[in-house]
Amino acid sequence: MSERTATIGLSLGADICWPICYETLLTDLNLNIRHNGEQIRFASERVTIEPFNLQQPVKYDVVIDRLTHWYSTSREWIKKAILLDDLYVYNNPWSLQSNEKHTSYAAMLRLGLPVPETWMLPPKAYEESDDLQETLRKYARMFSLDDIGNELGYPFFMKPYHGGGWKGVTKIDNAADLQAAYDASGTEVMNLQSAVLPHDWFVRCVGLGPQLRKVNYDPGAPLHDRYCMDVDFLSAEDQSVLEDMTLTINSFFGWDFNSCEALRRDGIWHPIDFANACPDSQVTSLHYHFPWLIKANLRWSIYCAATQRGMHRTLDWDPYFAIADTDRSPREKLSAYAALANQRFETEQFNEFCDKHLPHLDELAYRFFASGTMRDAIHQKVSSLFPEHEIEEFTELFWSRIQLWREQEGQPQ
Ligand SMILES: Nc1ncnc2c1ncn2[C@@H]1O[C@H](COP(=O)(O)OP(=O)(O)OP(=O)(O)O)[C@@H](O)[C@H]1O
Ligand SMILES: [Mg+2]
Repeated sequence: MSERTATIGLSLGADICWPICYETLLTDLNLNIRHNGEQIRFASERVTIEPFNLQQPVKYDVVIDRLTHWYSTSREWIKKAILLDDLYVYNNPWSLQSNEKHTSYAAMLRLGLPVPETWMLPPKAYEESDDLQETLRKYARMFSLDDIGNELGYPFFMKPYHGGGWKGVTKIDNAADLQAAYDASGTEVMNLQSAVLPHDWFVRCVGLGPQLRKVNYDPGAPLHDRYCMDVDFLSAEDQSVLEDMTLTINSFFGWDFNSCEALRRDGIWHPIDFANACPDSQVTSLHYHFPWLIKANLRWSIYCAATQRGMHRTLDWDPYFAIADTDRSPREKLSAYAALANQRFETEQFNEFCDKHLPHLDELAYRFFASGTMRDAIHQKVSSLFPEHEIEEFTELFWSRIQLWREQEGQPQ
């Protein structure tokens, strides 16, 4: 029987709390599993930033990446490691780099999802470049903002086509708002998107591999209260639609870890923001939902490292389009996309693997989330974000919400 240690790399930026929890629980799990004729132990290590030879071997089996959407040296290291060393990374870095929010709207419209009507505008202003004036003089057509506003119908949202943490998002109620927001948009390329208002639910569905968590989301609340603590607030069919939608999006784009925001109006879920690969993982925003994220992250990374699951380097969209082009109903198509997603995420094998090799995770996590290490991780994160006089108060708040999660889960048998 061959033996190996599967090494999971953590590619981090300013993250503080979740790596502490991930590393502690991975050590506590003390895995030594037999899988496919191998005896496998597990270790994790934080990935450092340094010069590299393109042919330098990589010691990791899996990298959980939280950095490369903005730090290009690490992104290029990850790309070369996938190409030359068969590294498995979540998320697919080429997809992350090239599929903007705008592309995600177009792709999901093509699959028939009820994305609200969306337009794109050329930018208001430009950086000068050699060919700019000639190109604009020859090809840029004059247009009337008023006409576009009337065609789309008020209210709608103006937002940067690449997304990005709520920056530059404006609700537009009339022609004057539209003109003012466009004038202020500068060189940003903007989408205009019909508002799903009023809506009765705003849900953020987080996907990690085939695992899904639906969170009631309140965008108007302060950051620490946006993830509400409701459980079982949706009907089985609503949950199923959100899950199928998120699985579809994530498998289509090769995003193992992503969140999908959807709004429900008149019984229909409209996805409005779902290119969030690498979503917020901080205890200061997730609090009550944070233990779910840590456990889901451990399960999926351990599964990928143990099974040496192959990375989908290319995206292979045709099977989705083939379903889109049938005459099935929208709900039937969504189920068919989700079935494809479950194949790609190996959901059945994953669940079997977790039942067999990780049955003690729940019990360990239940104990860990009441430990001094957990409380200290919260304190460290809160200290990095909050003013001095609020540190103890907010440490206590997030801690108490995690203890509420423990009470509601109950001690695993
Ligand atoms: N079509 C829409 N209908 C209703 N509300 C919308 C719509 N688009 C955006 N919003 C509102 O604007 C907020 C920000 O928009 P969006 O989520 O698309 O941008 P973002 O910059 O990606 O934000 P995030 O910080 O969530 O990543 C949403 O949380 C929602 O409250
Ligand atoms: Mg959003």
